[in-house]
Amino acid sequence: MRIISGIQPTGEPHLGNYLGAIKRWTELQHEQECLIFLADLHAITVYNEPGALARTIREAAATLIACGIDPNKTVLFDQARVPAHAEMAWLLNCTARIGWLNRMTQFKEKSGKNRENASVGLYSYPVLQAADILLYQATHVPVGEDQKQHLELTRDIATKFNTDFGVEVFTVPEPLIGKAGARIMSLRDGTAKMSKSDPSDMSRINLTDDSDTIAQKVKKAKTDPEPLPDTMDGLKGRPEAANLVTIFAVLANRTPDEVLGEFAGQGFGAFKPRLADLVVETLRPIRARFETLRAGPAEIDRILMDGAVKARALSAPTLAAAYKAVGLPR
Ligand code: TYM
Repeated sequence: MRIISGIQPTGEPHLGNYLGAIKRWTELQHEQECLIFLADLHAITVYNEPGALARTIREAAATLIACGIDPNKTVLFDQARVPAHAEMAWLLNCTARIGWLNRMTQFKEKSGKNRENASVGLYSYPVLQAADILLYQATHVPVGEDQKQHLELTRDIATKFNTDFGVEVFTVPEPLIGKAGARIMSLRDGTAKMSKSDPSDMSRINLTDDSDTIAQKVKKAKTDPEPLPDTMDGLKGRPEAANLVTIFAVLANRTPDEVLGEFAGQGFGAFKPRLADLVVETLRPIRARFETLRAGPAEIDRILMDGAVKARALSAPTLAAAYKAVGLPR
């Protein structure tokens, strides 16, 4: 088994990123070979202030390490320092079909009404994502629910490339999507996912929010006046309530039904302070480690450069095999 996954280094990582992906990465690294990277080439598919990128890349790396990613166990790097990602993306652009990309819902959401003006990079974003994964012969990709379609596309690209050129260059990877936590919703709207790009900071809990901010955000989270039922089935049609129970459950390493077993019959006046405590207690050590790490940017750069050296070595054979398969001498 070989695991790979990534996160965009723009905007602060939030509780959705943590519960849907990062927490799982920290667990998997003890059992499996893991590669985790900062998707900085994906970040530039929309305009990002060039002067700020180096800092946000370091901060995202510091956040991951603060969450428990151990650079001695996980190969931690950023895409731009491993040119094979961009090279492989080109080879795969020639395998991916326009019709496949036209079906990508994330492109439709991100490009919005002004599609003609979206960058070509944003359109072919999922092909770069396929390159990230296929370069390393990854077998499993732990992600949140929103990445499912990109993973299916990755499998289609791998299969078509292998078939077209008649060689098994790529492993066809499996997504790893958790049962609970794979889709954490906004605190202001239970039908929208928690997202870095939501204009309201009250809609999400950032991993580096201080305790007072977290308590305020949980207190102000949208809910309803009904008491809690004793199983998740009873929360149908109450997306905000279901979301808060899910967050509680994943943080406490319990099932949502176990959590409801404890709170059945009680209202949010009782539930929210307990949830706030749980989030504060989980994020407090993460924020403390983040502050320490942020004070040593040279150390973070060293970690990312070490990771990139390892990633270059791990990706080189597959890149060479892909060039050979398409018939290009190098
Ligand atoms: P990104 O940066 O949007 O998110 C990083 C991870 O967090 C998950 N996630 C969530 N999980 C649960 N609830 C939410 N509200 C929530 N929001 C985000 C995402 O599913 C993701 O797992 N395209 C990717 C980055 C990427 C990548 C890859 C991932 C680039 N190449 C190769 C895997 C493999 C992205 O933008 O993730």
